[in-house]
Amino acid sequence: MCGIDPLLGNNRNWSARCRAEDPKFFERLAGQQAPRYLWIGCSDSRVPANEIVGLRPGEIFVHRNVGNLVVHSDLNCLTVLQYAVEVLKVEHVLVVGHYGCGGVRAVVDERRTGLADNWLRHIEDVARKHEARLEALREPDERADRLCELNVIEQVSNVCRTTVLRRAWERGQPVEVHGLVYGLRDGLLRRVSEGVRGPEARDSGYVEALSALGIP
Ligand code: CO
Repeated sequence: MCGIDPLLGNNRNWSARCRAEDPKFFERLAGQQAPRYLWIGCSDSRVPANEIVGLRPGEIFVHRNVGNLVVHSDLNCLTVLQYAVEVLKVEHVLVVGHYGCGGVRAVVDERRTGLADNWLRHIEDVARKHEARLEALREPDERADRLCELNVIEQVSNVCRTTVLRRAWERGQPVEVHGLVYGLRDGLLRRVSEGVRGPEARDSGYVEALSALGIP
């Protein structure tokens, strides 16, 4: 008996169930994937991409890291983005943050976590950029929630500024970038940034998203 035996058992049952419902399911998926969506979310175990939006294998391409960050020098994220947009031709990129994010909270509490501090510096940069907006809130919980929202708005802007999205829009490829925040307490996704469909909408979308938070 090994620690992951239950998982392997679950897997056999799941595979059998999928094949019982649709005998060609795996055969079809093995041939190709054609997801319409790219999910860029947090690694948090409570925010499983497929499950939250009710999509099956093959329907959503996923990149996750701590704090759902899109950093312009992160080859991992940029490679996923390029593959999703240029090869898979996804129509929607979803940047999904979540309330109760440990990475965001560490920044709000100025808590040191070790190596991860270097990664979290990107969230710290967002906090510094929006210092006045955050200082207006007294409770650390409120500040953390607000920083989760601001972080998503900034990451949407980062996605829109990548060479991948710029080139896609120049080619006239239809691809829209959305910003969402997931609530751990109710399991619901909230929009914090309307879909951005091109470079013209990028800056106005950013300003609109910030004003929709009810802060100047
Ligand atoms: Co998180």
